[in-house]
Amino acid sequence: MTTVTHLECSVCGKQRDQGKAHNLCECGGPLLVRYDLNKARQSWNRDSIANGPCTMWRYAPVLPVSKPAAITSLGEGLTPLVETRRLGQRIGADGLWVKDEGVNPTGSFKARGLSCAISMCVELGIGKVAIPSAGNAASAMAAYAAAAGIEAHIFMPRDVPQANFIECKAFGAKVTLVDGLISDCGKMVAARKDAEGWFDVSTLKEPYRIEGKKTMGYEVAEQFQWKLPDVIFYPSGGGVGLIGMWKAFEEMEALGWIGSKRPKMIAVQSTGCAPMVRAFEEGKTHSEFWENAETIASGLRVPKALGDFLVLSAVRASGGTAIAVTDEEMLDAGIELASIEGIFAAPEGSACVAALKKLLASGFLKRDERIVIYNTGSGLKYLEAYSVRFPRVAANEQDKLGGLITPR
Ligand SMILES: Cc1ncc(COP(=O)(O)O)c(C=O)c1O
Ligand SMILES: [Zn+2]
Repeated sequence: MTTVTHLECSVCGKQRDQGKAHNLCECGGPLLVRYDLNKARQSWNRDSIANGPCTMWRYAPVLPVSKPAAITSLGEGLTPLVETRRLGQRIGADGLWVKDEGVNPTGSFKARGLSCAISMCVELGIGKVAIPSAGNAASAMAAYAAAAGIEAHIFMPRDVPQANFIECKAFGAKVTLVDGLISDCGKMVAARKDAEGWFDVSTLKEPYRIEGKKTMGYEVAEQFQWKLPDVIFYPSGGGVGLIGMWKAFEEMEALGWIGSKRPKMIAVQSTGCAPMVRAFEEGKTHSEFWENAETIASGLRVPKALGDFLVLSAVRASGGTAIAVTDEEMLDAGIELASIEGIFAAPEGSACVAALKKLLASGFLKRDERIVIYNTGSGLKYLEAYSVRFPRVAANEQDKLGGLITPR
């Protein structure tokens, strides 16, 4: 089982005991989970992983849960890595894959983080959780909380995709729709959590969601026979998936499973909310709050991320870049991917396809690089966004056209 040792602040380095509920360090820095990787190395090797469960829990020695009974799993992880040859040929990339996170429980990669976080809540005896969310994290938390018998309180923007709202309600969560963005939702959770006895499961404010997300990095290595790709495209809202994968690569190197070479990490955002792209271009270590954030990619509508400095430092260290695309480009790319590869991606995943085209055209990427795009969610969760491209005349309107109300 787990080889967890302690938690460590990502800013000041202060250590804390594992086995207690923690949010941020007193310096304001996010806490990261540390493991005894030497011990893991002795008792576990990469060839034995295939004998583990067909979920992200096959990496249990580098996940924080110590009591197996606490694991709350709905089958998350071990998602397909689909080689997309037809798209690659069309856009000039010889080796192109899509890691399809849309097939996770609740239709997004958020299942990984919330499976891990809710499992830790079970282990630590936490009975009430609260989350500010751009949408998909809320759906995932509501599902895992339901599976664990934990009370879930959701705060999300009033205009989240309908799928997110309906899922949360169906899973029995208490839903508050907020006239604002995830940042406003975060303030509401922070203001009420002590009085209500809620554990705050905001991403990076609790240390375990990132641990679930990092398994996207372990998996891509396993699926490529422990040779990392040259380039990874990741749609970055909070950017925690990217930070998580970067952490996974460090851990795998310490385990002796991979060398020191890293993929170029490409953080993709929307032109309607691109705080990290702006900070990257200006050479800054931290981003600034993005005013009036607006995009159909609801998961990218994060005006200021707590872990921005970790994303920016990983992107720079990797020799990657940060790039923004428009909503129109996302829809075009999403429909292109769907129509020639059979993968119906969330606009966040589609944004990566649009960004890839730009970086191939500019020469930043070469056609012989091995490129992986993370499609972080299913297009099925974004029917309102895609329906703009496929309008249907309402049935009752068509009936009126002929002046007759008859079956057609
Ligand atoms: C589909 C989708 N993709 C990407 C993201 C961004 O996630 P991260 O915090 O890892 O940047 C989200 C977050 O809500 C999302 O729902
Ligand atoms: Zn600290």
